[in-house]
Amino acid sequence: MLKEKPVNKTNPAAHVTPAEYGRVYIETFGCQMNVSDSQVAVSVLKKKGLEVTDNIGEADVILVNTCSIRENAEKRVWGRLQVFAGEKKRRPGVIVGVIGCMAERLKSQLLDNSATVDIVAGPDAYRKLPELIEEASSGQQAINVLLSREETYADIEPVRSGKNNVTAFVSIMRGCNNFCSYCVVPFTRGRERSRAPSTILGEVRTLIENGYKEVTLLGQNVNSYRWTDSQGDEVMDFPELIEKVALLSPDLRVRFSTSHPKDISDKLLYTIAAHKNICKHIHLPVQSGSSRILKLMNRAYTRESYMERINAVKTIIPGCTVTTDIIAGFCSETEKDHQQTISLIKEAGFDFAFMFKYSERPGTPAGDKLTDDVAEEVKTRRLNEIIELQNSLSAESKKNDLGKVYKVLAESFSKKSENELFGRTSHNKSAVFPKQNYQPGDYVNVKITGHTSATLIGCPEKTLSPVL
Ligand code: SAH
Ligand code: SF4
Ligand code: F3S
Repeated sequence: MLKEKPVNKTNPAAHVTPAEYGRVYIETFGCQMNVSDSQVAVSVLKKKGLEVTDNIGEADVILVNTCSIRENAEKRVWGRLQVFAGEKKRRPGVIVGVIGCMAERLKSQLLDNSATVDIVAGPDAYRKLPELIEEASSGQQAINVLLSREETYADIEPVRSGKNNVTAFVSIMRGCNNFCSYCVVPFTRGRERSRAPSTILGEVRTLIENGYKEVTLLGQNVNSYRWTDSQGDEVMDFPELIEKVALLSPDLRVRFSTSHPKDISDKLLYTIAAHKNICKHIHLPVQSGSSRILKLMNRAYTRESYMERINAVKTIIPGCTVTTDIIAGFCSETEKDHQQTISLIKEAGFDFAFMFKYSERPGTPAGDKLTDDVAEEVKTRRLNEIIELQNSLSAESKKNDLGKVYKVLAESFSKKSENELFGRTSHNKSAVFPKQNYQPGDYVNVKITGHTSATLIGCPEKTLSPVL
């Protein structure tokens, strides 16, 4: 463990190289894209000779990959920075870097905490991390928050040190052009750009060779994935890409996230229906059930057109589960708007939802031009009503699974017991069941016998074939 800032042995006056900085510890907040980006950052640093450690107490470089989506997400990171400050006090010379969306949003404001923060690096600057560490090691603060129109880290193989070697995220695009009025992502991650299909397929092939059984293709809006060749002729859209991935191996499950309701096409739905190994689950964030609010959110669909898409999903892919995101208490939301959200939730019958109170983000169109005028206690009450309703729908969705047999991909041992496995159904429902002779990476036919609020409970069933 380094007690002091390391010194370049051959020339003590020079600053140290990243490799001499030894061990890096990385904490990740935010969405799946951030999880995937941390794996890219680790890959870049490992190439330069740094080791990864899970023990903050022995780290020479502490990185925190951050999220700005809601105020609370940023508050948590500020809290962690205080802990890192304590670590620096104990072991002077430790370098602390803030990377990701909050780094991009707050830029040099973070460096004002000069006692704590040495490096600020935005989501498109991870190739530069070794240089930034080198700069910081000489005692200067280092920053790179340039957003790129091209960077997709296409050639970088992420270092996956996750909790299992069964499921992996594969980033297929970066950035977002949608500018939903409440959202920071277009500002923190820049313009949308798609990754070359050959590099995506290459990465998935390597994962298959290494025994992985499931990939989730990631983008803020995967439906607008579009790869064009150098002549500018379109050569691949998302349905074609996911089909190519699915055809790599029948033994590989393929998921994707996230779909924007305004451009989820029938072509995609037919592709999902046509391939057994493309999971029968779509995450389709609705945000609100009121067309007036959707317009203010700049979501580019109405309640009616959203419901039309839900019906298309249910018709083209019978039994497909649909999950969503909902924001309660957006600017000017009335009781009537809220009731429309409640009725849409019932009508759509979501299997699961992520539910949030609106959090105003400075610099976004809503932050700048609309008034965050729904009182905190009203937001809380509306959110609670939404959660209560969704909880009952989620429970109903699980109740419908009782007695059915599903093909579950075992991912890991369950948190509670080494004698139980944890996995997911094609529908993206969590399930735990006795391990018997199975292990993570196996597909197991599981008969559902019960459920908790979040998880199906079942038992391996060798004789019956699964419904899905
Ligand atoms: N790209 C994805 C989701 C990105 S953020 C998509 O478009 O669906 C994930 C979710 O966070 C959003 O769907 C939204 O429900 C929520 N969210 C984003 N900004 C928010 C804000 N300012 N306040 C509250 N929730 C927000
Ligand atoms: Fe944000 Fe909208 Fe882009 Fe999703 S689609 S990341 S909610 S701007
Ligand atoms: Fe993801 Fe949060 Fe950034 S949700 S894209 S890490 S603002």
